[in-house]
Amino acid sequence: MNLPSTPSMRLDGKRALVTGASRGIGLGGAVALAEAGAHVVMVARSADDIEAAADAVRRARYSAEALTLDVSDIAAMRMAIKTRGPFDVLFNNAGTNQPMPYVEVSEENYDRITGVNTRAAFFVAQAVARGMIAAGIKGSIIHTSSQMGHVGGIDRSVYCASKFAIEGLTKASAIELAAHGIRVNAIAPTFIRTPMTQSTFDDPERVAWVRSKIKLGRVGEVEDIMGAVLFLASDASALVTGTSMLVDGGWTAG
Ligand SMILES: NC(=O)c1ccc[n+]([C@@H]2O[C@H](COP(=O)([O-])OP(=O)(O)OC[C@H]3O[C@@H](n4cnc5c(N)ncnc54)[C@H](OP(=O)(O)O)[C@@H]3O)[C@@H](O)[C@H]2O)c1
Repeated sequence: MNLPSTPSMRLDGKRALVTGASRGIGLGGAVALAEAGAHVVMVARSADDIEAAADAVRRARYSAEALTLDVSDIAAMRMAIKTRGPFDVLFNNAGTNQPMPYVEVSEENYDRITGVNTRAAFFVAQAVARGMIAAGIKGSIIHTSSQMGHVGGIDRSVYCASKFAIEGLTKASAIELAAHGIRVNAIAPTFIRTPMTQSTFDDPERVAWVRSKIKLGRVGEVEDIMGAVLFLASDASALVTGTSMLVDGGWTAG
């Protein structure tokens, strides 16, 4: 009897672009992809931080390079992706938040959050997709959405709006890019302990709220996201596109 064989989760010979890779979820994703054999181009605005992160990945004997870039500078981003690409994998992860009561949200606040989380994410993925199409690469695009792209959250009206948009982008672009063999998916994490969520974790009331919502009874760690990145980047998910993988400890289950 011929047994079916599990598709490989190795990424040897692949090139991956990870935005927001200097810390938190992006650094975790970059390490997961590099461990699987990919060469990873790691992006952030702070040159010192991204050089240090890429250096740490290289010191672990993986292949990585730093790219200092503000992804919301669309012209500079397009040029950088053209120069460093084409890529087989994009982990489109750079994002920001500034929790604020809905009635206090200003235009500046709205523009700052959506400018990175939605506008830049949209055009980064478009730039990478263009490179994949031109090179005939049947690649994988992975957006970092959020559970807040599926449900509402306190003081998160703009953030939720920015991440629900990513869910729509994932579905719509997956339909068009499927014709090129390019897959597009999202990962939707619950609260993960990173510098971005430090203020939430510093507030005992908010921590109690988060714990009460996560059915598994603990907050997320960066490591909880790494397997999802690897799965969606690799052949193990070859028939998965246009979907969102919730890594939320059961928050949205009910
Ligand atoms: N942590 C959570 O609980 C959680 C849950 C769900 C979804 N997410 C999403 O996961 C992603 C990463 O979050 P995180 O918690 O890991 O955040 P983080 O710890 O604040 O890290 C953000 C990363 O993005 C980079 N970055 C921010 N703005 C950028 C820009 N304009 N251009 C290039 N790089 C930029 C930062 O470096 P520089 O500041 O040097 O640019 C840093 O590397 C975000 O999309 C976030 O919305 C987070």
